[in-house]
Amino acid sequence: MRFAKLVPTLLLVGFVVMACGGTNNPGTTATKKIALLLPESKTARYESKDRPFFTAKLKSLGFNTDADLIYSNANQDAPTQQTQAEAALTNGASVLVLDPVDGAAAAAIVAKAKAKNVPVISYDRLILGTADLNYYLSFDNAAVGALQGTALLTALNGKASARVVEINGDPADNNAKLFKQGAHSILDGKVSIVAEYDTPSWSPDKAQTEMQGAITAKGKNIDGVLAANDGTAGGAIAAMKAAGITPLPPITGQDAELAAIQRILSGEQYMTVYKALKAEAEAAATLAYDLATGAAVPSSMTNGKTTNNGASDIKSVLLTPVAVTKANIKDTVVADGFWTKADICTATFAAACTTAGIS
Ligand code: BGC
Repeated sequence: MRFAKLVPTLLLVGFVVMACGGTNNPGTTATKKIALLLPESKTARYESKDRPFFTAKLKSLGFNTDADLIYSNANQDAPTQQTQAEAALTNGASVLVLDPVDGAAAAAIVAKAKAKNVPVISYDRLILGTADLNYYLSFDNAAVGALQGTALLTALNGKASARVVEINGDPADNNAKLFKQGAHSILDGKVSIVAEYDTPSWSPDKAQTEMQGAITAKGKNIDGVLAANDGTAGGAIAAMKAAGITPLPPITGQDAELAAIQRILSGEQYMTVYKALKAEAEAAATLAYDLATGAAVPSSMTNGKTTNNGASDIKSVLLTPVAVTKANIKDTVVADGFWTKADICTATFAAACTTAGIS
């Protein structure tokens, strides 16, 4: 997909959310506190993209992020996140923006927030089984898995009975379930999935162990790997390299991490999925700001789109993910300013960048 086609979709679906808070004058003093609770730090996006984009947007709205933004990262531990959320409530948070480690367990956090009349925004991952959740902001996550499956089929180029290893994410993350469903909806009946794993905590190390296990059990004859994100893709690639598999088969990913973009350029990874994290984080910041300051909530949050979390239909904004291969790095992540040419095209990748037209 050309990036030019993507922008209007993002504008329509996502950026509308920012309309309300975006019109507030910078310089307005907000006295209420906002808590941002992120799930882990092994995956690069949270500290390098989500947190800075969220903070910068709040600042631009006049929010005093130094004094009034409470930030915690749970390092993929649900009890830690529960403690961090309780601390945020005790410290006077008036809104929780919560990306849950465990979607079901996080319902207990929503109950504590509700008891204090504090609204909760489910950020990126859906909090399950509670009717008290206020909003859900994410991407179309089944579409992410479908993009991965479709790209893998393209790379397999019609190969009969292709042998695929599938490395899914953490089963406690509702997104992992959706990625998996999306991938299966494309691959089932078209390839032979010879081994499949759910990866606890989305850990790249565990993905590496899983891939080693697949090679030991099924042999080196692997035609493709469906890895749910770039971290697990990195683990799978390390295992295949250690086993001496050359050339590497096509492997998918997600997050458009810098390391993955560079692996795509060098031919080690076939694709990734780019999600416009700036749009996601800014929409969450704007909504949190409006809730904290009592401003009217943007109409795009109340005009119909909902996602059922097992207990209720939650008002939602779901942004559109985009598949990235060598052919469109320039028109997606570079065009969007997610990574600059200077970020990507270090000396090692200079020649590959030129070939890919990133110059
Ligand atoms: C996110 C992905 C991320 C994964 C691991 C998912 O919920 O949507 O972007 O790679 O968690 O943190």
